[in-house]
Amino acid sequence: MLGGGAKRIEAQHKKGKLSARERLQLLLDEGSFEEIGMLVTHRSRDFGMEKEIYPGDGVVTGYGTVNGRLVYVYSQDFTVFGGSLSETHAEKIVKIMDLAMQNGAPVIGLNDSGGARIQEGVVSLGGYADIFYRNVQASGVVPQISAILGPCAGGAVYSPAITDFILMAENTSYMFVTGPNVVKTVTHETVTSEELGGAHTHAARSGVTHFACANEVEAINNIKRLLSYMPQNCEEDAPRYAYEPADERRSTLNSIIPANPNQPYDIKDVITEVADTDSFMEVHKDWAENIVVGFARMGGRSIGIVANQPAYLAGVLDINSSRKGARFVRFCDAFNIPLLVLVDVPGFLPGTDQEWNGIIINGAKLLYALSEATVPKVTVITRKAYGGAYDVMNSKHIGADLNYAWPTAEIAVMGAKGAAEIIFKKEISEAADPEAKLREKEAEYTDKFANPYGAAARGYIDEVIMPEDTRTKLIRGFRMLENKVVKMPKRKHGNIPL
Ligand code: HXC
Repeated sequence: MLGGGAKRIEAQHKKGKLSARERLQLLLDEGSFEEIGMLVTHRSRDFGMEKEIYPGDGVVTGYGTVNGRLVYVYSQDFTVFGGSLSETHAEKIVKIMDLAMQNGAPVIGLNDSGGARIQEGVVSLGGYADIFYRNVQASGVVPQISAILGPCAGGAVYSPAITDFILMAENTSYMFVTGPNVVKTVTHETVTSEELGGAHTHAARSGVTHFACANEVEAINNIKRLLSYMPQNCEEDAPRYAYEPADERRSTLNSIIPANPNQPYDIKDVITEVADTDSFMEVHKDWAENIVVGFARMGGRSIGIVANQPAYLAGVLDINSSRKGARFVRFCDAFNIPLLVLVDVPGFLPGTDQEWNGIIINGAKLLYALSEATVPKVTVITRKAYGGAYDVMNSKHIGADLNYAWPTAEIAVMGAKGAAEIIFKKEISEAADPEAKLREKEAEYTDKFANPYGAAARGYIDEVIMPEDTRTKLIRGFRMLENKVVKMPKRKHGNIPL
């Protein structure tokens, strides 16, 4: 029960970290934990290891419940050989992953490990690969969540990377493929562990972690909240929460769009108004902020929200926001969570940086993910829906079920000024006052396209709604779509552009 002993547990506490068992106590319902493999020991006989035997071998594994729902867990014990992964340590993790897949319940990994058990060599590497393989088998079958609560380096990072959500604790955890010493040798860069792979770095720069949490307690509470939006496995629906129908009108939404179409507003204010009270849980909050993704509830039922954020880079789509959106959409689709897409997008971000880094392939990810998703899909265009981004953001053409637009919606190939400059180029250049001509033609284009009625006339928009009615329409719409079934053509798997 004491892992590597009281002294090492004390050292763990001094670093601001909890022990493996304390973490499980926080995560699981009281008295629900059943341990599996408590007496497992390593089989290593090299480097004096035969004298260093700790029952459990550096990882506590088993099952329990979170808010009454079954989960499988492993919690690495840094006090035993730095939580390093031996052959038997890996076998214990593999055992609970197999049980999770066979019995259809989430796997939660609490990672705190110095990586491969150095004394063991290749059997430790084999153990990692056994876990990676199961992460892939379980992907889309049961939810997998990884908390990083200590070091996570080398190839070990690839298990969390394959799982659905990563949470890191600030100042006590880090992830990198090669640490600061190797970086210094190879690239001559001087960087600390925290800068290279701490929670903030991965939350804001790389997007590797979905959540940067102030401490371990916050990380564990976030895992519990996250689970509340998910089903146990891909064949079930997420749990429903009690919901009392009330007056769903939200008149504050009527004045949320600024009079000037180039002025930003915060799309999260819209989300807060349309979702059930306090139900929005943002994912990837600090990365690619020009798109907002997260879970919420609508009439007590889980939904996933993907929304352009006009308050950041005008809500433009770029490489990272497309990747962020696509990954989230695929999770929701795999686990039967309906999607709400809020659109206010001026288009894709121009520039050499974007083109040379593959905006074509990366932008296609979001297009692909939304097109392949068969869960109920509802769109609300609040303002701009320009160019290819109109198609990508859950348009009717790529399989959306219900498409709403507010009267402020502008649906066109491009902005009015740019459009006028191109199609009336000759007329403008030959005019006595080219500036005035441009303004006149811009106004003409605006009149024709800066509204939702052309799209509504063709049925691309099902209804132009007053903002205050949005929540009512969405609750009714998602309820109407509850039994949606889509038959896909036979194939092994699609080939999403990666
Ligand atoms: C065996 C290890 C270990 C390891 C740490 N320990 N890492 N034992 N194998 N990988 C032991 C230490 O000997 C020590 O034992 C105890 O754990 C705590 O370690 P400390 O160094 O005292 O702790 P700290 O100062 O907090 O430093 C933590 C650390 C450091 C940064 C993780 O221990 C470290 O750098 N470890 C080596 C990391 C590494 O190179 N791993 C292999 C990476 S390659 P005592 O008895 O003193 O308590 C890899 C490949 C995976 O992982 C590939 C998968 C495909």
